[in-house]
Amino acid sequence: MLYTLSLNPCVDKTASIARFDPDAPNRVRVERLDVGGKGVNVARAANALGGDVKLLGFDYRGQPVATAMAKEKVPCTLIPLSGELRVNMKLKEEDTGRTLEISERGLETSREDIRRIIARLLDCVQPGDWVALAGSLPPGAVPETYAKILHALEEKGCRTAVDCDGPALIAALEERPFLLKPNAQEFAALTGVDAGDTTAAVAACRGLLNRGVEWVCLSRGAKGALLVHGEEAWACPAASVPVKGTAGAGDTMLAALALAIERGLTTGETLRYAAAAAGASVMRPGTLLCRLEDVEKLLPEIKVEKLV
Ligand SMILES: Nc1ncnc2c1ncn2[C@@H]1O[C@H](COP(=O)(O)OP(=O)(O)OP(=O)(O)O)[C@@H](O)[C@H]1O
Ligand SMILES: [Mg+2]
Repeated sequence: MLYTLSLNPCVDKTASIARFDPDAPNRVRVERLDVGGKGVNVARAANALGGDVKLLGFDYRGQPVATAMAKEKVPCTLIPLSGELRVNMKLKEEDTGRTLEISERGLETSREDIRRIIARLLDCVQPGDWVALAGSLPPGAVPETYAKILHALEEKGCRTAVDCDGPALIAALEERPFLLKPNAQEFAALTGVDAGDTTAAVAACRGLLNRGVEWVCLSRGAKGALLVHGEEAWACPAASVPVKGTAGAGDTMLAALALAIERGLTTGETLRYAAAAAGASVMRPGTLLCRLEDVEKLLPEIKVEKLV
């Protein structure tokens, strides 16, 4: 079973405008509204891939998260809070193709509410279950929140996957998460290494393994990904697909990695599966994630290469 925790869900608003103009009202065309946030996305992707998954987290006025999860038949346990779901706007400038991203930080969340959802999670998990801790923490949560959860999960015999950045990631690393999936920026901030330099990046991934992480997947956007585990390091390019929306590609990749590792795939096959799932996700607009039939079609086309 894979549990995912969403402490700061959002609605992804995908919009467009002909040209940004600081002196004009900038009337935008809203194209899509997708309930998301990394924890929510990992649950949606794992569910689409046929995994046994449950989302735990918070919901807001009108229960938008519960409604979206019901539509996709993603099992969830959500604690309702007052206030509105935060908005994460991705605004595309049609003339240049640039995208401006405006992310609300989210509502102040009380220590007591955070304690309640963590207690629910710890009540559910069994030894051998996976837990994905992904996404930003809401205002009100201390940066050590994920680290504390990881500590409790290790005692419960769970495998953990972490996808966050900044002080939360640095604190989490101390608790030896089982799987890490930084993107290029997160990796550079964490290790000081340019993700584009494959030799240096593999060495830096090894450094993370030496700190107790079992699997490191460095996702490099359109340049594909590296996967380092044990003595092995593998690389693959991104799937060659028409790109409609990259939001949530990394979250899809994280879900696919957890499922592939749990199913006992080899390191190379795990990377192939994760890259196929991410490719199937970018083929779809907005934060729509992968479809299983697309993943299966892409799988044989992904060329993985053993580096070490
Ligand atoms: N432009 C693209 N073209 C093809 N594949 C892509 C593209 N962007 C991302 N991908 C695929 O998705 C994977 C994850 O992408 P990326 O490294 O951008 O993750 P991320 O920044 O964590 O994404 P997010 O946090 O928005 O989910 C890449 O390794 C690649 O396989
Ligand atoms: Mg990411």
